[in-house]
Amino acid sequence: MQLANRRILLGITGSIAAYKGAELIRGLRAQGAEVQVVLTRGGAAFITPLTLQALSGRSVHANHLDAISESAMGHIDLARWSDLILIAPASANCIARLASGMADDLLTTICLVSQVPLAIAPAMNRLMWEHPATQENLARLRARGVQIFGPASGEQACGEIGPGRMLEPSELLDLTARFFAQGRLAGRSVLITGGPTREAIDPVRFISNRSSGRMAYALAAAAVKEGARVVLVSGPVDLEAPRGVERIFVESAAQMHDAIAARAPESDIFIAAAAVADYRPVAPALSKIKKDASNRQLELERTPDILAEVAAKHSARFIVGFAAETENLETNALHKLKEKRLDMVIANRVGLPDRGFDSADNEALVLWPEGGRRELPLARKESLAAELMAIIAERYDAKSQTENR
Ligand code: C5P
Repeated sequence: MQLANRRILLGITGSIAAYKGAELIRGLRAQGAEVQVVLTRGGAAFITPLTLQALSGRSVHANHLDAISESAMGHIDLARWSDLILIAPASANCIARLASGMADDLLTTICLVSQVPLAIAPAMNRLMWEHPATQENLARLRARGVQIFGPASGEQACGEIGPGRMLEPSELLDLTARFFAQGRLAGRSVLITGGPTREAIDPVRFISNRSSGRMAYALAAAAVKEGARVVLVSGPVDLEAPRGVERIFVESAAQMHDAIAARAPESDIFIAAAAVADYRPVAPALSKIKKDASNRQLELERTPDILAEVAAKHSARFIVGFAAETENLETNALHKLKEKRLDMVIANRVGLPDRGFDSADNEALVLWPEGGRRELPLARKESLAAELMAIIAERYDAKSQTENR
């Protein structure tokens, strides 16, 4: 599943190669990608929306400035939804309109508002391909960072032989997978816990903590940027799932434990960034507890230590824990590293107003076995996450090399 959780907006334009779009959708979905199709008027002359809808499992977007389709998912939402826009086939006309920044149909409008990478698979007659106008347009697109997949050379639908054939769906699939497989964690799977947990006292009350989940979400986004497939098991937080991340919402420590137990064995790297409640009410009341004049006692029991369990069972290859401490940061973090037998611990000072829990900034002291140590100064959680992910990738590689020796 090289494309698990990747969202691909597939543009199909007017070319006889449009029929290959059908096979491409099947291939992309078989690799785990979600696909939405934008069909141009020219494209619709070669393949029906019904075929594309059946294969992509979603309705096809064809109309520009159409009130009904805009209310379902408008061009801005479609642009935001995707991780990659792939236009296959891309006709000479479409390439020319992209090059000059036109927005006269849905597909070109989306390309203009989108900030995600664009890849095109040209398909046209060899004379159109070789025409200086087309070559100039392609050069402009290349200079803007557009990926050009193909074309192949060979027999053409019009009977001529030469360059301009669209690449086969299997080749486009490989190129798409390779496009995503960039970064230090390409092809690796990363499992992250984040946010607080809620431990029920009764149906309306719970014990929780101040964790905002921001560090975990920033780590998940950084792991995607490094090319990893990312699953984020999140407690209740008010954050959008980062693009490309599979998020599983849970409430209690027990639910988080079960979600992790199911996913850890297929993960290369496990990062426990959640602030899991350490205690929960022994017997949550089944109906709302009524107040009366007397004081109340709440009996608490320990929750499962998710991180310790993953480490003890070696369910993931590389295991990272967090240590949020109010005092003796380094000593306590080193203790956690050894006691839980982790591959790395990321220690934060908490209880300060401007960093740690529920704040936009954080600093970290990173420790790993045999005296590994790196201090990262106070920074936005997003840039700290990128630095942390680079260190995790480096240590993961180092551990894999020693194991393979
Ligand atoms: O021992 P302590 O709770 O301070 O350890 C913190 C680390 O352990 C964090 O990485 C946290 O996500 C993880 N943890 C866990 N399950 C628990 C408690 C903590 O995975 N029940």
